Amino acid sequence: MLQPTLKPANPNFSSGPCAKRPGWSPAALTDALTGRSHRSGPGKAKLAAVIDRTRAALGIPDDYRIGIVPASDTGAVEIALWSMLGPRGVDVLVWESFSKDWMGDVKEELNLDDVRVLDAGYGDLPDLDAVDPARDAVFVWNGTTSGVRVPNGDWISSGREGLTICDATSAAFSMDLPWDKLDVTTWSWQKAMGGEAAHGMLVLSPRAVERLESYTPPRPLPKVFRLTKGGKLNEGIFRGETMNTPSMLCVEDALDALAWIESIGGQPACKARSEQSLAHIAAWVERTPWAAFLPKVAANRSCTSVCLTLLDSELGDKAAEVPGLMAKRLEAEGVAYDINGYRAAPPGLRIWCGATVEPDDVAALLPWLDWAFAAIKADLLKG
Ligand SMILES: Cc1ncc(COP(=O)(O)O)c(C=O)c1O
Repeated sequence: MLQPTLKPANPNFSSGPCAKRPGWSPAALTDALTGRSHRSGPGKAKLAAVIDRTRAALGIPDDYRIGIVPASDTGAVEIALWSMLGPRGVDVLVWESFSKDWMGDVKEELNLDDVRVLDAGYGDLPDLDAVDPARDAVFVWNGTTSGVRVPNGDWISSGREGLTICDATSAAFSMDLPWDKLDVTTWSWQKAMGGEAAHGMLVLSPRAVERLESYTPPRPLPKVFRLTKGGKLNEGIFRGETMNTPSMLCVEDALDALAWIESIGGQPACKARSEQSLAHIAAWVERTPWAAFLPKVAANRSCTSVCLTLLDSELGDKAAEVPGLMAKRLEAEGVAYDINGYRAAPPGLRIWCGATVEPDDVAALLPWLDWAFAAIKADLLKG
């Protein structure tokens, strides 16, 4: 098979840290408030701008709090789990690696008595209708490592008594999030925004705030987890008075990412770009006998972390080696970086299609997948 000639202009298809926005260069950070206090007037103004522009871009209701917290998305999720869980039973939804990690936290670290795990294997979703609205629910919106997302929020009761704690790190900006159904939502700048890791976004509904102010967890909380002071929400955190020192370079980069998102038409445009990339891959899967989506149901297919499996009857046991070898070959060609599937997922490819990835680059990658597959298969069959 002939080697294609057209390469993606940007070979960065990693699922995190993800591609920077088109045209990004370090010059985007020129106005960073380096060497100044994050508690100075200009420092607080930059942090508040991240919060305000995030609210506007994502249509987050005015009565929801938005905070910037330490330790990326993981920090934001763990702050919520450690601060809020306990007074009710908890349903944890598990269908890939990150959701499994949250289950481990809830069951083994927090050691809560009343935990139900609703689980499914890679490629599937658990029974969403089994979620009990009287209980708290912990779930990912998009399972980054299996490419399975929840199709919508219809399964979440509007009259729920429990809280919904949603890790939306690989969903925010590229997917619609129904704020009325989400009590705690988290993400990191390093995903669909193409920003930097290290800081997490934590969005709280009024009911989440009520939980924080009415429930004192029977466990010590480190300083970087504490959202309340004297039983009241520490409102400063949600105005940009961060719990500890943020990186003003990362903050500047987040502002740059938000400016780009605003310039292309906001969250709907981010979603459209990701859906366009997914559509390119779906059309190619349709005509490619050796490739299939890992998610079994089309409505659950992620438009950000697109996960593929390989189908080939001739390769037998050797089939499992193919994705890693393809990823290596394409990296060597400068065509695609970091597209081997997640280490704990079934062997396959994972192609990040978040908003910062150009759909044209995804389209340009696809003939290279055919080429790499044919070349690797021929090598493996040769022996
Ligand atoms: C669903 C999900 N949750 C959590 C994380 C961890 O994010 P971070 O490393 O930004 O803390 C990731 C990272 O890929 C993820 O995909």
